[in-house]
Amino acid sequence: MTSTPASSVLDRVLVLEMVRVTEAAAIAASSLVGRGDEKAADAAAVEAMRAAFDELAIDGTVVIGEGERDEAPMLFIGEKVGGAQGTGPRIDIALDPLEGTTITAKAGPNALAVLACAEEGNLLNAPDVYMEKLAVGPGYPEGIISLAKSPSENVRAVAAAKGVEPSEIIVCVLDRPRHAELIAELRALGCGVVLIGDGDVAGVIAVTNEDTTIDLYMGTGGAPEGVLAAAALRCVGGQFNGRLLFRNDEERSRALKWGITDLNKIYTRDELAMGDCIFAATGVTDGSLLKGVKRHKNGVMTTESVVMRASSGTVRWVRGERRKQG
Ligand code: FBP
Repeated sequence: MTSTPASSVLDRVLVLEMVRVTEAAAIAASSLVGRGDEKAADAAAVEAMRAAFDELAIDGTVVIGEGERDEAPMLFIGEKVGGAQGTGPRIDIALDPLEGTTITAKAGPNALAVLACAEEGNLLNAPDVYMEKLAVGPGYPEGIISLAKSPSENVRAVAAAKGVEPSEIIVCVLDRPRHAELIAELRALGCGVVLIGDGDVAGVIAVTNEDTTIDLYMGTGGAPEGVLAAAALRCVGGQFNGRLLFRNDEERSRALKWGITDLNKIYTRDELAMGDCIFAATGVTDGSLLKGVKRHKNGVMTTESVVMRASSGTVRWVRGERRKQG
């Protein structure tokens, strides 16, 4: 039997099925929120996500995962997932079963179980290196932001298009020593800087939600998280630029191994996630995007998820309720 062609792959059924997968990972990680054990929380999420994939009738390949085969026992890059190998639709999957391991261990905000999937070959196989990121929400002229410009130039461009002063622009940045210069430049313009401890997938997506008041995302974080965030922005709108950053030759050779030859390339949103794609996330802890998993009286557990599809622009918010059986 032959696999289903990729073009008909990401259909209605899969959209909701993907939520089951992120829900499973989030529920597993949630029992370790605030327990101070990052590794255990991550392992629980990975194991649950892996098992949930097997319930799906797909021929999936992990293109962004927990690491390379020799570093990750499960959900490693290249691993085949899904219960219909060789027969089901062939899709590529970028995943982070627990985006925010430290947040989870410390019971902080914005930990997510997250994944994106697309037709085979449509997600950049980003190596696990850093990526410089820049994002703005929907409604601005195409190309208004660019990593080729300075942070000040990007802020001024967005302020002019929004009809406000640069000092009224709010920028989300990961709170890291490496961002001291960036933060100083933004503060010199009078910008509000929202510093987040971890979790830049949620940080980038925050630019698409006016309630957060965040206009721009800037700074360096994980490249895999950059691809996941770009996939989400493909579904809800907004612009994204990403540039891979390499700290040593080992990281550079990892990029070459994945076929990346232009090491200074600035990737646009649509070069990171192409064609149709689905993005799904479930909250582990409360955050700007989603509420976390809650365990209520009488064994009731609630989850909050979002699932989006690029081709239709549909965004579905899914509240799950589970009761103990028996
Ligand atoms: P983990 O879930 O792997 O802990 O990643 C959390 C995170 O904050 C990401 O959202 C972000 O892209 C990356 O770490 C930043 O890396 P670093 O902590 O090295 O600055």
